[in-house]
Amino acid sequence: MYKVSLKARSQEFEYNCSPNQTPLKAARDNFIPFPTGCQRGGCGMCKVKVLDGEYEHELVRSHEYLPDEELNNRFALACCMTPKSNLEIITIEDYEKQNNRI
Ligand code: FES
Repeated sequence: MYKVSLKARSQEFEYNCSPNQTPLKAARDNFIPFPTGCQRGGCGMCKVKVLDGEYEHELVRSHEYLPDEELNNRFALACCMTPKSNLEIITIEDYEKQNNRI
């Protein structure tokens, strides 16, 4: 079991995620308000920046919402990834706010 530290909706959350579970599913199971949509890699609503930790990302995803450049820069779709260590992630919404990109 790994620990996930998540920043979402300007709040910080911590929860457990098993190695075969996505951080999105684990958050929803814990009633944490993780932005979500299709849960199949097609809408980009669950996009996060991984600030720390190791993970695997399924290659099945929408390139429109997660282009290769972002994938290679540790952006990920939380519905298409599994943890390989403890993770620190931030939703794209909070990441952009934090970096004044809106
Ligand atoms: S919920 Fe749609 S891409 Fe993850």
